[in-house]
Amino acid sequence: MKLTIIGTGYVGLVTGTCFAEVGHTVICVDNDEAKVKMLQGGGIPIYEPGLEEMVKRNVSAGRLNFTSSTAEGVQKSDVIFIAVPTPPLPDGGVDLSFIERVARDIAGAMTGYKIVVDKSTVPVKTGEKVAETIKRYCKARVEFDVVSNPEFLREGFAVDDLMKPDRVVIGVGSQRPVASMKAVYEPFKAPIIVTDINSAELIKHAANSFLALKISYINAVSVICEATGANVQEVANGMGMDERIGRRFLNAGIGFGGSCFPKDLSAFIAISQSLGYNFGLLKEVQKINAQQMERFLKKITDTLWVLKDKKIGVLGLAFKQNTDDVRMSPAIELCQRLQKEGASLRVHDPKGMDKAKSLLKNVEYVEDMNAVAEGCDALVVATEWDEFKKLDLERARKALTHPIMFDGRNLFDPEEMEKLGWIYKSVGR
Ligand code: UDX
Repeated sequence: MKLTIIGTGYVGLVTGTCFAEVGHTVICVDNDEAKVKMLQGGGIPIYEPGLEEMVKRNVSAGRLNFTSSTAEGVQKSDVIFIAVPTPPLPDGGVDLSFIERVARDIAGAMTGYKIVVDKSTVPVKTGEKVAETIKRYCKARVEFDVVSNPEFLREGFAVDDLMKPDRVVIGVGSQRPVASMKAVYEPFKAPIIVTDINSAELIKHAANSFLALKISYINAVSVICEATGANVQEVANGMGMDERIGRRFLNAGIGFGGSCFPKDLSAFIAISQSLGYNFGLLKEVQKINAQQMERFLKKITDTLWVLKDKKIGVLGLAFKQNTDDVRMSPAIELCQRLQKEGASLRVHDPKGMDKAKSLLKNVEYVEDMNAVAEGCDALVVATEWDEFKKLDLERARKALTHPIMFDGRNLFDPEEMEKLGWIYKSVGR
């Protein structure tokens, strides 16, 4: 099929590339000309495992094309996906101005029937607004359908999530676009749920808020574990073996971050409020997430007492492993809080250091994770990168002035660490 994706941010680029990979002809549109040039030349602006090779392969095969012209994208395809940012507003609501702008641009370029698919995460009822806008601005008076098709990809696993989705959600207002939408996703061999537009839009916010709730739940349980000497990982393992619960997203730590959970949670609370419902449960989820950071900081100050003039080594800056994304990263927040207390920092992240440089200043960026501990008073683990588990513990222990580690992601075994001579503090154990 011929498909156009408007917006080559995270979701747009990965989606467009995976569509090309399964054999569709894809045009990716972005108004940032420099980005379009970079992509045309085979470069990619983000780190995502497997993506770069896939972009190159599909560009060479002629199935993946980039342009800065929305009109070209709209005219050459029958199905147009909107994948532009929906950033948060100061009140927790969602800024839909990019979506509205694109809806007008699409309307202006349409010359025949089009299926306009919203992939961005939007508040319930946005599809209705998009349809009204296109109708208002489409001078050619051609027919069209609006479809909601939310994206569930996780950064760091985006290609995998897209190629092997758990489910595909398609929200429609009529039967007409259903066959085309099924044809788009047929090669992925995933279960497809066809529903109404409002339900499809709600599935995204409800799912992400539930996952955030799951993390906050285990973080709350970690407090009880610490108070009783229980081990939160053992509790999570036992809970997770119940298939109704599942083990995933039950890792206690310094809280969730990133550009989805915090934003989607605030948005869902604001949407609920505007519909007359006070979603207190989700407000509590936010509160627990914030407290988790405070509790971790307290662990550090309880042990080191005064942070002024102390040097702390921090492993991890990205908001989670396998990504270079540092937006809304708990690790960055932690670093900034430590700086505020007067500590100086030596930091390392396998992929996130370049992007961190604009957010985190006056720190020593260290290329080798095994060199971070040198001259430090303590080591902090802030991101759950697997490679941190391979840290040269003996070298780090000797390089520190005192062998103290605060592990905010529970990467090491407490008993083992004690045996190796560490003063080791983790979360809920
Ligand atoms: C999330 C959703 O998983 C995805 O389906 C949606 O489409 C976009 O939002 P993402 O933000 O990329 O994806 O990352 P995710 O893997 O969900 O992690 C989010 C945050 O939660 C990270 O900061 C991570 O460290 C934290 N987390 C995750 C935990 O603290 N504990 C866990 O058990 C899992």
